[in-house]
Amino acid sequence: MKYPLQLQVNEVAYTLEIEAHRTLLSVLRADLGLTGTKEGCDDSECGACMVLLDGRPLNSCSYLALQADGRSVTTVEGLSADGELHPLQRAILEEGGVQCGFCTPGMLISAKALLDAQPHPGEAEVRRALGGNLCRCTGYRRIIAAVLRAAEQA
Ligand code: FES
Ligand code: FES
Repeated sequence: MKYPLQLQVNEVAYTLEIEAHRTLLSVLRADLGLTGTKEGCDDSECGACMVLLDGRPLNSCSYLALQADGRSVTTVEGLSADGELHPLQRAILEEGGVQCGFCTPGMLISAKALLDAQPHPGEAEVRRALGGNLCRCTGYRRIIAAVLRAAEQA
C-alpha cells in the first residue's frame, strides 16, 4: 500500500506516493535521483546520510519519509546557488578536506547547520557539530580547518 507524500527538497516541490517503510534517504536517492546524500552504515552511526529537515541536521537513513510530509529538506545538491559553490564547498576543496569524498556531503550539511546557527564558531564548536560525521580518510583536521575558513570568509 502506498501513501501520499509532499516534500519540498532544495526549494522544489515534489508529490509522491510511497510505502510506509521507506526512509527519507531511500526516497531522496531512488525516487528523486539526489544521490549526493550517501548511504554508509544505514544505522545512525556515520552521518553520511545527513540532510537538513526544516533547517535541522538529521540522519535520513533512520527517518521515515512519511514523517517528513509537508516539510522542507535540504541536501548537498541544494548548497550551491546560481552555479556557484557554497563557501563551505569552496573551503573544503581549498583546504584539501576531501579524499574519497564519501563523508563530504554529510560533513557539509552538518557544517551548514552549524554556520546557520553560529556564523563564527570556535574550533571546539566545529568539532562538536561534526561529532556525528565519520571520516575514514582525512583525520578530520582539514575538514575542521575548512569550516573555520568558510566562517572567516562569511
Ligand atoms: S548512513 Fe545514516 S548515519 Fe550512516
Ligand atoms: S574523505 Fe573519505 S570518508 Fe571522509
